[in-house]
Amino acid sequence: MKATVLVSGGAGFIGSHVTVELVQAGYDVVIADNMSNCDETNYRGVCSILGKELPFVRMDFCDKEAVRNLFAKYPIDAVIHFAAFKAVGESVTNPLKYYSNNLESFINLLEVAVEKGGCNVLFSSSATVYGEPEKLPVTEESPRMPATSSYGNTKQMCEDILRDSVAAYPGIKGIALRYFNPIGAHPSALIGELPRGVPNNLVPFITQTAAGIRECLSIFGDDYPTPDGTCQRDYIDIVDLAKAHVAAVTRMLKDKMEAGYEIFNVGTGRPVSVMELVKAFEKVNHLKLNYRIAPRRPGDVTAIWADPAKANEKLGWKAERSIEETLESAWAWEKHIRNIK
Ligand code: UFG
Repeated sequence: MKATVLVSGGAGFIGSHVTVELVQAGYDVVIADNMSNCDETNYRGVCSILGKELPFVRMDFCDKEAVRNLFAKYPIDAVIHFAAFKAVGESVTNPLKYYSNNLESFINLLEVAVEKGGCNVLFSSSATVYGEPEKLPVTEESPRMPATSSYGNTKQMCEDILRDSVAAYPGIKGIALRYFNPIGAHPSALIGELPRGVPNNLVPFITQTAAGIRECLSIFGDDYPTPDGTCQRDYIDIVDLAKAHVAAVTRMLKDKMEAGYEIFNVGTGRPVSVMELVKAFEKVNHLKLNYRIAPRRPGDVTAIWADPAKANEKLGWKAERSIEETLESAWAWEKHIRNIK
């Protein structure tokens, strides 16, 4: 029998790509989303890619009764939890919104999983937990640094909540995946990132600038101690990232875990600077971007990239798409949603 995976936040950017890969790998998927930060575009895209409708429940994980009902209705073998607020800046000005939503939803999920006698829980964490690392690349053993935003703090707290729950409640198993910088879109261009308002992240800002929606990209700082003075990140293709989830869920369901709670970096291991990314985008898509050098953005770390060896070895997973393919897919998606030929 097929195992059923619940994807909370499954209508969002990462959740929609993960859903596609899970179904293509043979899992049944139930999507649950409150649609607070997305519309139906990605859900529709997922259904067209897969050629079928998937079970979709519109609900909020802060509503514990709704979570109970979900677990009563579907035979859930594993949960991938994406449902959370994710705007770093907003989390600094409105921390309570982030603590109440991101923690309560996750605690509700775990409480219901405990009531049901257990579940495999995959939590979507972030490289933000490493802060400004002293040594690069970062491994899973690299120290976590005090969070510089409430958003980052909720990632650390949820990791700890999962770790402690695994230790305390029989039947709960957990994996935290620490993502580096997910970018790009599905090769079909039917699903992708749909930021509301002015994008905070680099690649959506680039594609919107290329589409003429934003006048000029600001490169935040060119005086960092890096080879070209701009910040370095580990940009991970969204489909590659999605496949890491399939590998992690399979590891849990097949009882291959070496401990009840495991952590994996999900990155390429390759640092790319902001300037390199901009140049690669221009080259691969044959266009010129309007950009300028602007002051540093408060809170940005100079450089971070992953040591992905643990995921390579234990999950049998490796980033495969080149940065060029990824940047092509990001532009194809922007053109698709803006009706640009
Ligand atoms: N950048 C620009 N111009 C922009 C946007 C970004 O130059 O308009 C630069 C940033 O300064 C940074 C790089 O592009 O050097 C990447 O920025 P993103 O905002 O795309 O990504 P971050 O590395 O800042 O964000 C990541 C995750 C967040 C996480 C955060 C913690 O996307 O989820 O790290 O700092 F919280």
